[in-house]
Amino acid sequence: MPRLAARTGDRVLVTGATGRIGANLSRALLSRGYRIRAIVLPGDPGCRKLDGLGVEIVQADLRDAPAVAEACQGVDAICHLAALMGPDAGDMPVIDYWHLNVDATLHVLEGARLNGHLVKFVFASTDATYPASKPRYIPIDENHPQDPVNLYGLTKVVGERLCRDYLTEFAVPIAIVRYGGVASPDERASGATFRLSAQLQRFRDAKRSHNNYLWANVVDYERPWEYLEPLATGEGDPLIALTDLEGRPWQSHPTDVRDVVQGTILALENEVAVGEVFNILGPAPVSTVEAVRYLAERLGVPWRTAPVPFRQAIEVSTMKARSVLGYRPTVDFFKAVDDGLAMQRGEDIGVVPAKLPNR
Ligand SMILES: NC(=O)c1ccc[n+]([C@@H]2O[C@H](COP(=O)([O-])OP(=O)(O)OC[C@H]3O[C@@H](n4cnc5c(N)ncnc54)[C@H](O)[C@@H]3O)[C@@H](O)[C@H]2O)c1
Repeated sequence: MPRLAARTGDRVLVTGATGRIGANLSRALLSRGYRIRAIVLPGDPGCRKLDGLGVEIVQADLRDAPAVAEACQGVDAICHLAALMGPDAGDMPVIDYWHLNVDATLHVLEGARLNGHLVKFVFASTDATYPASKPRYIPIDENHPQDPVNLYGLTKVVGERLCRDYLTEFAVPIAIVRYGGVASPDERASGATFRLSAQLQRFRDAKRSHNNYLWANVVDYERPWEYLEPLATGEGDPLIALTDLEGRPWQSHPTDVRDVVQGTILALENEVAVGEVFNILGPAPVSTVEAVRYLAERLGVPWRTAPVPFRQAIEVSTMKARSVLGYRPTVDFFKAVDDGLAMQRGEDIGVVPAKLPNR
């Protein structure tokens, strides 16, 4: 029987190793005694996150199939994390976006097939492959229909399907992890996503493009941002907690980057993960009112509730990862905020920040 679990000393190829998850995963794997090869985009400033760690850097764009195939040779396992998330894609033409997320995955899978000796291929997928912002039921488990509300989610559904084909046709030992709402503590503590200005922008974007998580919730409303405009009094940029018209808070399911790293390593190191898919999210969902109240107190900034006639309530089950892999997410929203504030004070909590400060 071929070995299907990675172990100390193995060489792991990480794509997306300069991202918020990839940089922390690479460090965690190095500290467990793995050797890391990273494919990074030429000129990527995030490469500094890997400085001095002894990571073997291959500069290549994943759209370059021969370069990717070469980088896949001689490794024992692959963690394929690189992607462009939908909301980050901005106004990128759909075809370019497809090349970035779908062709890139196909190239890494082809490299895996040509390698022929992998013990594991972990594919980073997402809860956006479900209609997470408009689910049929909650908590969303792995059997929930994959019916994404945006193009990003669709590219990951296709990526997952390609992975399954490479497992069936070529015995590439695939494990799929579906993350959701991931942030590093420094991002969590910034409170940026709850700012009125950010919420107004999000509501506007929801009517401009389908490559976001909100448009399906506001489909019946022509100018949803008008519910928030009265709050823009010109006095600062308060934190906003969205509720529905009955006062029920919106709910998100946040995940700390350290829990994602834990779940990914479990998928890498457990042979039972082959052919399986696991939701990897944080310990619990959080109400926006609780989250915003906590942040406002910690940051010493004003906050308001904003009633709107639609609601998102996201909750994803991690039961399968807990029972099959022993996954134990430990960092809830509140701890992540506290840890992020510690990072802002210059304390080293062992997390690579999402964005390095300018030198
Ligand atoms: N952050 C989240 O909330 C979240 C949620 C669910 C799933 N995911 C998935 O997890 C993975 C990692 O996410 P992240 O938050 O670290 O993202 P990130 O944006 O911080 O990092 C993405 C990485 O991919 C690299 N990349 C993008 N296009 C590339 C290309 N053509 N060639 C080579 N490298 C390329 C970038 O340089 C970067 O290192 C992604 O696949 C993402 O879809 C993230």
